[in-house]
Amino acid sequence: MDTALPPITLLDQVDSTNDLALEAARHHAAPHGSCWLADQQVKGRGRRELTGERREWFSPPGANLYLSLLLRNTLEPSLATPLTLAAAVGAHAALSPLLDDPSPLWIKWPNDLYFHDKKLGGILSEGVLSGPRLDAVIVGIGLNINLAADQLPEALAPLATSLLIETGQRHDRLAIALSLRHHLLAAADTLCSRGLPAIIEAWRPHDRSVGRQIEAMIGGQWRQATSRGISDSGGLLVELPDGTTHDVQTGEVRFVR
Ligand code: BTN
Repeated sequence: MDTALPPITLLDQVDSTNDLALEAARHHAAPHGSCWLADQQVKGRGRRELTGERREWFSPPGANLYLSLLLRNTLEPSLATPLTLAAAVGAHAALSPLLDDPSPLWIKWPNDLYFHDKKLGGILSEGVLSGPRLDAVIVGIGLNINLAADQLPEALAPLATSLLIETGQRHDRLAIALSLRHHLLAAADTLCSRGLPAIIEAWRPHDRSVGRQIEAMIGGQWRQATSRGISDSGGLLVELPDGTTHDVQTGEVRFVR
């Protein structure tokens, strides 16, 4: 029950909410469901590029949502990767009721939230190991909520969007955070109790990549391909021009058009 959950820790400015959550998890200083929510991050971290370089996550004050959730009871090591897929399903469930028409909101494999062809949010999951055991997982989510178009840096403007830009309305970030935690925990529970097939089933109606031209990293090189959507094992099925299909398990895809 959500009522039994620990309070959400609200912070003005932090380096990264994931770093705070990781620190607390390593010291066993916070229970399952603990959540850190910041107004601003000065060292917000995005996922690693294929080059291995860590991307910065644009995290200005007064506009967006930067949240990290600590999960402790889900921790079959084999569930660590699917947990990120589950988190994307949970984030979609939290955001779609805010939209009069939720159809442009979708999940881009492996774990981005998109509105039409622009990124609305991303997820960075990080595990805490204790020997071979997975002790905790931190699910970090950044969502662009009340960011105005003129606040986007030039490099991000063609790629990113916000709820404000898309709907013309400002949204209550704390209310979204509460709903987000609820849906993330529910999705993690679904994964634990019903397994990956239940997450894939929830994902498929919200995947708008199917049939689109993409570039995917296969065998160390970017290849043109057609997306065939999420595979039963949680990868992305891509079809190459020679008709072969590949189940891409890690990395990233980019849209050609
Ligand atoms: C991505 O590259 O798409 C993932 C972005 C994840 C950003 C969030 S914001 C809250 C949490 N703290 C961080 O430093 N990163 C994640």
